[in-house]
Amino acid sequence: YRDLRVALLGCGSVGAQVARLILEHGDELAARAGARLTLAGIAVRAIDAPRDVDLPRDLFTTDAERLVQGADIVIELMGGIEPAKSLILQALQGGADVVTANKALIAAHGPELAEAAEQVGAQLSYEAAVAAAIPILRPLRESLAGDHITRVLGIVNGSTNYILDRMDRFGDSAEDAARLASELGYLEADPTLDVEGYDAAQKATILASIAFHTEVPVDAVYREGITKITAAQIDAAKHAGYVIKLLAIAERITSADGTDGVSARVYPALIERDHPLAVVYGGKNAVFVEAEAAGELMFYGAGAGGAETASAVLGDLVSAARRHVVGGPGIPGSLHAELPILPVSEVSTAY
Ligand code: HSE
Repeated sequence: YRDLRVALLGCGSVGAQVARLILEHGDELAARAGARLTLAGIAVRAIDAPRDVDLPRDLFTTDAERLVQGADIVIELMGGIEPAKSLILQALQGGADVVTANKALIAAHGPELAEAAEQVGAQLSYEAAVAAAIPILRPLRESLAGDHITRVLGIVNGSTNYILDRMDRFGDSAEDAARLASELGYLEADPTLDVEGYDAAQKATILASIAFHTEVPVDAVYREGITKITAAQIDAAKHAGYVIKLLAIAERITSADGTDGVSARVYPALIERDHPLAVVYGGKNAVFVEAEAAGELMFYGAGAGGAETASAVLGDLVSAARRHVVGGPGIPGSLHAELPILPVSEVSTAY
């Protein structure tokens, strides 16, 4: 196999899992990608900070710029705008592909970064930035490329979904539910980003831009959080056959004067209790897509978490690596006889 040097920027809960998976699944990743993915280093602020995973100390460096030089693929998991943005631009200008989970950065500067990638023929991918483990950006961009998407409805913020769900099904107060969400690690470092809908608005920007092939700036997204939702409103909704969910909605609409356009908004919405989005409980996410030919589709799963988000990062990493390999597995879905086929007597009929 050809060797590809992977630089990892950031080693928080997602970064640590990405590093672990690259190290533990090296052979499998090499077979899938057609190239050996060598973790060249991990850039961090403090080398001896506590980590979720035990990783070889000699991988760590505080010199992110140096690590980016000479990398074939750069994975940015630092979060925030700077220095993440400058490092991504440096990586792209140096010809590296970039994978990131940075929703705030992509929502604010996605088009500029995509253009920088395009200019040098590099790949910039960020599947993990929206709804973590759920594959949603690639399906919107690729699988549905031949269809005409009319509406995307997403529960894309796990912590607010958890809080509203606790209030609805368990009768928790908003404060108790928020405390539990915090203990589970669902909330952002600044929880205002969650409860006031900023995090969902960033994700709505990304979803809307991809679904409608239009640049939708984050400040064009109407935003309302969940802080004004009361137990009485949740109860009233329940008695009327509805559940309140914080939705990110992006849709094609025609204005009163006949102009076709896109509307993107985040607010607590009433959902009929028999709609598939109504049973997305706890901290889970789901994205419901309506398209002209495909009809209704729903994507469901974990919208947060270290390993869950790392899954999407690794998918982008393998996809980026395949581009470097001429005559390699290239075509996703090609078979490599990784496992023997076992007889049916080996399986249990209990499901
Ligand atoms: N705070 C975010 C959420 C984390 O609650 O969904 C994942 O983006």
